Amino acid sequence: MTNPTWTPDSWRHKPVKYMPEDYPDAQALVQTEAELSRLPPLVFADETRQLTARLARVAEGKAILLQGGDCAESFKEFTTDNIRDTYRLLLQMAMVLTFAGNRPVVKVGRIAGQFAKPRSSPMETLGGVTLPSYRGDIINGMEFDAQARTPDPRRLLKAYHQSSATLNLLRAFAQRGYEELAEPQRWPQGGINRLLADRILESLSFMRALGVSPEPRSGSNAIDFFTSHEALLLNVEEAMTRAEPDGSGWYDSSAHMLWIGERTRQLDGGHVEFMRGIQNPIGIKCGPTMEPDEVLRLMDLLNPQGIPGRITLIGRFGADLVAERLPRLMAATRRDGRPVIWSIDPMHGNTHKAGNGYKTRSFDRILTEVCGFMDAAAAEGVHPGGLHLEMTGQNVTECLGGPQPVTEDDLSSRYHTHCDPRLNADQALQLAFLVAESMPSLRTHEARAA
Ligand code: PEP
Ligand code: CO
Repeated sequence: MTNPTWTPDSWRHKPVKYMPEDYPDAQALVQTEAELSRLPPLVFADETRQLTARLARVAEGKAILLQGGDCAESFKEFTTDNIRDTYRLLLQMAMVLTFAGNRPVVKVGRIAGQFAKPRSSPMETLGGVTLPSYRGDIINGMEFDAQARTPDPRRLLKAYHQSSATLNLLRAFAQRGYEELAEPQRWPQGGINRLLADRILESLSFMRALGVSPEPRSGSNAIDFFTSHEALLLNVEEAMTRAEPDGSGWYDSSAHMLWIGERTRQLDGGHVEFMRGIQNPIGIKCGPTMEPDEVLRLMDLLNPQGIPGRITLIGRFGADLVAERLPRLMAATRRDGRPVIWSIDPMHGNTHKAGNGYKTRSFDRILTEVCGFMDAAAAEGVHPGGLHLEMTGQNVTECLGGPQPVTEDDLSSRYHTHCDPRLNADQALQLAFLVAESMPSLRTHEARAA
């Protein structure tokens, strides 16, 4: 390895992409980073180790990973209802997948820190005026004026405090367990497979009557729910990274799991350098240009010892390319033998502009990519371990199609995302049911019942 010594700031000696360089007051940024480094951790090392252990089970094929939430959290959409509804929807989807797959589902939100966005174009032109692109509320504002679009370090602190309050809510919701989800009226009505939903609800009330929790850890009804975001702003991640007093290493305390985006996975880049030194589980987005050899070299850098649960490879090829690009990557990791989780993000390869200019995604193409992923996994003898979605518990109109079909004309009515289009509650739940219905274990169940 060219640089065997790692420190939380060793990434600063490497080329980095997609980090803002245009803060007008460099000193204010340095002061903010110092302030962040003194603030309490958002998550704790023992929780992060728990997640790695859970993910190790996914890598073994004995559990499933469900990761989802906003493309970009925002200051404006920060409400108790939004957080509760997305959390509840993730739990409902997890229950559907648990029931069908007969395996525990590891629940990870894109939440409590998912603010920064790598934009394909650094500038945006509107009506002849050109300004820096919006890069997420943690960097600048979405309004199209010069002041809003100027990066402001105070936003880093605001994002920290919002993440902290979000975690506070999530921890409180998790304490309540599954109790309220046993009530059918809490479930979105569109997108539901009534038969399967009734069986899940029956099982839940049976468990409730027995006083047992569906969670694998006994003795508590609390739900294990973890947080994640793209580790894009390395200055923030560095400030949040703390050494464990017991000498067990460095943990990034900004989230349980961090991922490297498709645009920042360069082998010699700052993002890979930073991630190799932290103990948190790591996701790596794998798009259509990823080569088998690159995946293996990323694993050499990020998981040389092959720690189970450390690496989740998140494919995002698009419905048209998944069958061509994914199998060779799966074959390479299978031959390599170091444990990895294969997960699918059917969102980022399927974005297009609707006729009326809205950035959207169609439910059918999302489903096609998920099916392509399951087929590739079956053919390669790999566990289809995870699903990674941009979704919200709100009834938005951002993606086309679904159980109560959203049309191009509907897009403008409730298009609230700050970045990419998300599945709404009905669409996300329907996707979970359709994935569940295609799971071999459910088919076996049903064959037995017939
Ligand atoms: C994202 O997950 O929001 C994202 C930007 O994805 P990708 O890096 O795969 O493009
Ligand atoms: Co996105």
